[in-house]
Amino acid sequence: MFLDRVKPLDAILATAEKKSLNRTLGAFQLMLFGIGCVIGTGIFVLTSAGAQKAGPGLMLAFAIAGAICIVAALCYAEIASMIPVSGSAYTYTYASMGELLAWTVGWALVLEYAVAASAVCVGWSGYFSGTILKETFGVNLPVWLSSAPLVLGGKPGGFINLPAVLIAGLVTWLLMIGTTESARVNAVLVAIKVTALTAFIALTLPSDQFDAARFNPFLPAGVFGGFGTGVGAVGAAATIFFAYVGFDAVSTAAEETKNPQRNVPIGLIGSLLFCTVFYILVAAGAIGTVGGQPIMGPNGVPFPAGSEELARQCALPEYREALVCSNEALAHVLRQIGWSSVGNALGYAAGFALPSVILILMFGQTRIFFVMARDGLLPEKLSAVHPKWKTPYIMTAITGAVVAFGAAFFPVGRLADWANAGTLYAFMMVAICVMILRRKAPDVQRSFRTPMLWLIGPATILGTIFLFFNLDLASILVFSGWAVIGLIVYFLYSRGASHLGRGIVEVTDDVGGEETMVPIHPSDS
Ligand code: ALA
Repeated sequence: MFLDRVKPLDAILATAEKKSLNRTLGAFQLMLFGIGCVIGTGIFVLTSAGAQKAGPGLMLAFAIAGAICIVAALCYAEIASMIPVSGSAYTYTYASMGELLAWTVGWALVLEYAVAASAVCVGWSGYFSGTILKETFGVNLPVWLSSAPLVLGGKPGGFINLPAVLIAGLVTWLLMIGTTESARVNAVLVAIKVTALTAFIALTLPSDQFDAARFNPFLPAGVFGGFGTGVGAVGAAATIFFAYVGFDAVSTAAEETKNPQRNVPIGLIGSLLFCTVFYILVAAGAIGTVGGQPIMGPNGVPFPAGSEELARQCALPEYREALVCSNEALAHVLRQIGWSSVGNALGYAAGFALPSVILILMFGQTRIFFVMARDGLLPEKLSAVHPKWKTPYIMTAITGAVVAFGAAFFPVGRLADWANAGTLYAFMMVAICVMILRRKAPDVQRSFRTPMLWLIGPATILGTIFLFFNLDLASILVFSGWAVIGLIVYFLYSRGASHLGRGIVEVTDDVGGEETMVPIHPSDS
């Protein structure tokens, strides 16, 4: 009875045809969006946490997470080329499994986009406070202004992460004034980031200090540490999965893309393949030059990443230089092998470039909220497009406030794991959608078809479920709590306000133009 409201595919496509956001983006810009979103806090900040969970097996963790993302991207590419509209997994689910499940996906995407953006704001804040404020200007921000509160996982004396809040505000403003300007800013920052990682690989892999013996033991914590424990290569994969979060933001921009049938698959798969190769090379360079063995607890299991016990170990002289103890993993490696100035430059690059990640994640979030409001599931007034900027400015401001709140009061590792939980759910649902639509709508044109869907679809579903249960227990519980809140909101507000539920579907909402609602035929719903 609750799975009855399936949005007619024709109506979705017609809506996309006639509305609304300017089609300005090409394949190259989409790839920049993808890369801009993907390379960020995951590789620059969470590499240390990944090594603490898996040791040199971090490389395997990148490969596992990357492989799951690649099969998921193949599913995304088919469905995005078939339904080239904003809203990503939310819209796809609406067309194949109905409103209730679509709502749960939209709700989970808040974790993937807004909460992930908060995580990157916090990662940026670390580089900003360390490399830029402290090293360059000699300014030490007090702990109460630069860390989440201790009770929420921050540092003793922490209260609010002010730099993280400020960067969230700046990016919100960039998005409000328009996509074109924002995309240009993004392109420059992507170039900086890719240059930094290229330099890292070029200086580490051929280095005299590269020693294959450092990869031994390769799996000090094993492959599988147990569900809910978050250790071992798979536990590290569940965390380092964050390094891939965001490639699907490309599909959220489909409605603003020229020739989306061709460009969206190129943007998705191209950006992901590019990043996977980079990550494995970066991990190999870091571990081969300075080593990446975890610090083991008394029972032979690595101390939990981000724990108080690990912090105490890291304060000991023998671990002070360990990769797993560094907050600036990649800069640290370069300094260790005698390239201090390049290491500092890399720190700057991260400080300047991470905002591009925040920008793309928040862009994705605003577009998903926009589409949910257009469908009536969120208050419609919120989807208003600004007459001059041509952006959904109210949604953007709300997204900015949510991101700033998360960034202010929670630490990066927690935010990243929560974001992963939401993302894994969305990826799973997309794979299911592709398989359903192959049966339900076999004749709708797809310019890209997922190869061997009978294998790729189930592989995506099983892979995402497997990673999900390899997150730590707390993240699994946060996801579950968030889902329950979402269902309450749906039944108290969205189900009654839904356009589809009221028998109308919006087909025209040109920027600045009149909105037209038309009844849909009962047989369509
Ligand atoms: N993948 C993005 C990052 O690592 C979210 O920062």
